[in-house]
Amino acid sequence: MSVTSDAAERARALRRELSRHDHLYHVLDQPEISDEAYDALLAELKGIEERHPELVTPDSPTQRVGGGPVAGFTTAVHAQPMLSLDSSAKEGDLRAFDTRLRRAASAAGIDVSYSLEPKIDGLSVELVYVGGVLGRAVTRGDGVTGEVITPGVRTIRSVPLRLLEGSGYPDELSVRGEIYLPIDAFDDVNEDLINQGKQPFANPRNAAAGTVRQLDPKLTASRPLRIFCYDVLAGPTGLQSQSELLEALARWGFPVNPLNATAQDVEGILDYFGKMEEQRDELPYEIDGVVIKLQDVPARERIGYTAHHPRWAYALKFQPRKEVSQVLKIVASVGRTGVVTPIALLRPVNLGGVTVSRANLHNVDDLTRKDIREGDHVRVERAGDVIPQVVERVETGDERGEPFRMPTNCPSCGTQLTRSGPYTVCPNALECPAQLIGRITHFGSRTGLDIEGLGERTARQLVERGLVTRLPQLFDLTVDQVAELEGFAAISARKLVDGIQAAREPQLARLLYGLGIPEVGSAVARTLARSFVTFEAVRSASVEDLMAIEGIGEVMARQIHGFLNEPHMVESLDELTAPGRMAPKPDETGRVASENSALAGKTFVFTGALEVMSREEASELVRGLGGRSSGSVSAKTDFLVAGDGGGSKLTKAQDLGVTVLDEQGFIDMLKEAGVEPPAKTA
Ligand code: IVH
Repeated sequence: MSVTSDAAERARALRRELSRHDHLYHVLDQPEISDEAYDALLAELKGIEERHPELVTPDSPTQRVGGGPVAGFTTAVHAQPMLSLDSSAKEGDLRAFDTRLRRAASAAGIDVSYSLEPKIDGLSVELVYVGGVLGRAVTRGDGVTGEVITPGVRTIRSVPLRLLEGSGYPDELSVRGEIYLPIDAFDDVNEDLINQGKQPFANPRNAAAGTVRQLDPKLTASRPLRIFCYDVLAGPTGLQSQSELLEALARWGFPVNPLNATAQDVEGILDYFGKMEEQRDELPYEIDGVVIKLQDVPARERIGYTAHHPRWAYALKFQPRKEVSQVLKIVASVGRTGVVTPIALLRPVNLGGVTVSRANLHNVDDLTRKDIREGDHVRVERAGDVIPQVVERVETGDERGEPFRMPTNCPSCGTQLTRSGPYTVCPNALECPAQLIGRITHFGSRTGLDIEGLGERTARQLVERGLVTRLPQLFDLTVDQVAELEGFAAISARKLVDGIQAAREPQLARLLYGLGIPEVGSAVARTLARSFVTFEAVRSASVEDLMAIEGIGEVMARQIHGFLNEPHMVESLDELTAPGRMAPKPDETGRVASENSALAGKTFVFTGALEVMSREEASELVRGLGGRSSGSVSAKTDFLVAGDGGGSKLTKAQDLGVTVLDEQGFIDMLKEAGVEPPAKTA
């Protein structure tokens, strides 16, 4: 055999092996090998392809981020029209659909039973495979013709570039699925956009659509889009039921939602709908209802279609988290970084169970673009547990107020405001009370040092009474001082002081987040903590050291370095870490234990109230040890850790035979992996 055919053979084998691992990791959430072992295989394949460019194939895992930006989108006609669904949020409408369908079905001798699927709030896409290889991805467009977005879709790790070997996939296959951006990623993307002075996305669906239509696939790749597939537009003809169809998709290698279910009648549908509504806030992605489809696939043609939607499917929607309210007042609020943000004070509205009375208007440009004034009626929207946004103004025909004008001086300290790009900024970083209040609140926030009782109201009083003029002084507060504040008594004051003292030895990632370093959200804070292990190492890192870390580019590295080395910050950090104040714990978990801990590669779900730690802390420890934590129980769950009041997740885990631990059992596992759980606070 010649050298080239050896190389070709090895490249083929590597590609097959890598697609299998992509599927295990990104679709099944059950990796068999470490990230390092995967990277080694990928590096070997890259090496071969560099030496033999003629061997590069479009389905090679090296091509996930292949070419450069494209000039524009071409269009393509779908294998079958991509229809939309008839929908409503009313039970009565669902009952009417069921009655209509049963009438038509019984006339045609068709049995009615239903497939149920969460309705993912994403964007529909058609994936076309020829010979098992992804050839084309097309947006829904007008339903008949869509835009070709193959380069962007290739970057989505859970989209198979080639279907699973030996799974019996048809030679020509066109699949429909929903691309979505998980809520965590949505928050990160919006935080970045706001930091760059750009307008954030109103909801995860818009973010997914905006991301997948990027002309530069590198940008698409930087945002972790995912997909769930649920329909076959062209391919095999033998599929008898929707359940069979979904099983076939999973077998060929597509991600299929593990929450899909079936029902016999409207009662079964409503039961499932109720369960999904309960889980809605805990799911890592946004759903806006439940899709109900006639199980019998061959019978669908006989039931038929209207011009827009099938008569055999229906979407029952949740109450929207979008509502119209009125802007009572617009105020300028000074944040911890000095940026002055217009905030709309709203007539309180209920958005999917949460009462909302304020919304962020981001910056003057955004406000001007949307032209929002006091007295206006506006559409307000909330996604996941994200801060509500004013999406748009609703025209009422009433006379309108004057446009909002930013103040020229800081409403908190009176310093003349400056302008930086789209931002209005208070330059008095050292003394402005509002900025200090923001820094204290951020420091004590749940993702930060998680100090209970140190919310904005407390921070404001501490600053206004002159008890805290610099962050480090928090650690010198006494019970007597706190007891004087409004809303505090002896016991609650003791609790707050104890809480602050307990934060003396924080996990490094929490401290890094809590300091409010620009660009450092919780994900970057964790990366920094794992890479540098100690606070001293982070503080002394050069721009180059920071850039050497995956996910940290030059802009971010410069921002972080600049913040940590600004002379006042150096002084403040020295003061913060002086003896008797803070001593952050080195984050050794990621390095030392992750490879061989019993938690590595395992998926955990936490439910009920834990005593020793919060569920978030528990998830963080699991991640630190190379495991995963998920919001819902499925067949992929390895352990359910159940605190008091476990409820439906506990029942489901027991049904699925998932190992159930109590908190102590989980702590024992942590100890065995060499990690001391956080000390219990009184
Ligand atoms: S079925 C003929 N199933 O909801 C079949 N749609 O409001 C039509 N969607 O355009 C679609 N999850 O973008 C279907 N499991 C699911 C879905 C789903 C989300 C979206 C899809 C569709 C829209 C209709």
